[in-house]
Amino acid sequence: MDTLLIDGGRPLRGIVPISGAKNASLPILIGTIVAPGEHRLANVPDLVDTSSMLSLLGRIGCPSLVGDVTRIDTSRVAFCEAPYDLVRKMRASVLALGPLLARCGEAHVSLPGGCAIGVRPIDQHLKGLEALGCRFELEGGYVHGRVDKLRGTEFRFDCVTVTGTENVLMAAVIAEGTTVLENAAAEPEVEDLAAFLSGCGARIEGAGTSRIVVHGVPTLRPPPTAHRILPDRIEAGTYLVAGVITQGNVRCEGVRPSDLAPVLDVLRTAGAQIECGEDWVSAGADGRVRAVDVETAPHPGFPTDMQAQLMALLSLAKGSSRVKETIFENRFMHAAELGRLGAQIHIEGNLATVTGQPHLSGATVMATDLRASASLVLAGLAAGGRTEILRLYHLDRGYERLVEKLRAVGAEVVRGQEGRPKFAVNAAVA
Ligand code: EPU
Repeated sequence: MDTLLIDGGRPLRGIVPISGAKNASLPILIGTIVAPGEHRLANVPDLVDTSSMLSLLGRIGCPSLVGDVTRIDTSRVAFCEAPYDLVRKMRASVLALGPLLARCGEAHVSLPGGCAIGVRPIDQHLKGLEALGCRFELEGGYVHGRVDKLRGTEFRFDCVTVTGTENVLMAAVIAEGTTVLENAAAEPEVEDLAAFLSGCGARIEGAGTSRIVVHGVPTLRPPPTAHRILPDRIEAGTYLVAGVITQGNVRCEGVRPSDLAPVLDVLRTAGAQIECGEDWVSAGADGRVRAVDVETAPHPGFPTDMQAQLMALLSLAKGSSRVKETIFENRFMHAAELGRLGAQIHIEGNLATVTGQPHLSGATVMATDLRASASLVLAGLAAGGRTEILRLYHLDRGYERLVEKLRAVGAEVVRGQEGRPKFAVNAAVA
C-alpha cells in the first residue's frame, strides 16, 4: 500500500494553485440528473471521491467524460439505486437520494452507516424530503424512497447539515409551489450548488444564508455555459497552514478569500502573516505562532474540516490552546497520532487542550480520515527528520496532486511503499 514519506523541517515558499472544491463537486455532479441533458462542468478536481461519484452516475445510466471540462449525459436515467459498494466507499453517495427522487420518483440508496469521524445519521435528509411528500422505508440496509408528486413546504432542520440541505434543495427545485428551508447550511458549497441549479433554470433565493426559499419549476435543463466549481477553501486552508507551520510563506492562487475568512481570522490571531488579493491569499510566519482558542461551527464559523490541520499548527505554538469540536463527536482521532510526533494533546470529551512544543520529530503515523491525514502531513512537514504516513488513500480522496503541489513549494515528499526499509546502510560503513 502507498505511504507518504516526508523529510520535514524545511520552510515552504511559493505558489500553490487551488483546485475545485470536492464538497461542491459531489452534489453538483449528482445534481446534474435533475436537469436531463448534456452537462459541462469546469474545475472538477481529479480525486477518488469525484471518480466515485462519476461511477455512481455511470451505474444509474449517465455516462461521463473527464477532462478540463467534465461532460455528463443525464438524458436517460436507467436505474435509481446507489448500491452499498459505492456508498461504503464514499458517504456522499447519499446525495443521490434527493436528485433520484426528483428525477425518477423513486430512490434506493444504501444506508451510509457511521465513519471514523462519527455516527453521522441522515434523519434530517429523510425528514426534509418527507416534508416535500416523499415516503421512506428502511429495509435490507437500504433507504427505499418514493414520491408521486413533490410539493413545496416549510421545513426547519433540527441541526445544520450540509449534505442534508443539499439533498432537500435538489428535490425542492422541481417541487410544485414554494419551499422554505429554515436553519439551512450556509456553506459556500451549498451556495455553489444553488448557483449551478439556478443556471439550470431553478428559482432559489437566500442560498449561502440559513433561510433558503425555492420557487419550484416544472423542469430544468443543463446550463448553456459550463458551470465552474468554486475553489476548495479547505484545500487552500491546508496549504496556508503549511506556510505558517514551516515558518515559510505559501500563496494560494485561484481562491475566494471571503470563503476563507474564518480560517484567516484564527491564523491572524495566532500571529501568522496574512495577505489577500482578489483571488489569492498568502500565509507565513517568521517564528512559532501563539496559542489560540478555537471552536468549530457551521459556516461562517471555523470549519470542522480545518480543525485537525489547525491542531497540528497549535502543537507547535507558544502556550496552551483549547480546541472545541462541536460538529462531529469523534473528530480527534489525529490527536494520538500527532502525539507520536511529540505533540502534547489532552482530550476530554469534545475539548482538546494542546500544549505547544518547540519541536516535533518525525515518526511513522497512521491516518484515520481525510483531514486527520492532512494534519499529519502538516506536522510531518514541520517535524525534524522523517515522517511516514500510512493509509495514503484518505488523502487521495480529497487533495488533488498533493505531492506535486507540496514539492513545488519546496517540500521533500515522495510516495513510498508500506514495509519497504527506509534506512540504507551508509556505503562508507558497509
Ligand atoms: N447530522 C444529523 N442528522 C442528519 C445529518 C447530520 O444528526 O440527518 C449531524 C451529523 O452527525 C453531524 C452534524 O449534523 O454531527 C453535521 O453533519 P453534516 O450533515 O453537515 O455533514 P455532512 O453533510 O455529512 C459535509 C462535508 C464534510 C464536512 C461536514 C461539516 C460533504 C460531502 N461532506 O458532511 O466534509 O465535515 O459537511 O461541514 O460535503 C470532509 O471533506 O473531510 C468532510 C468530512
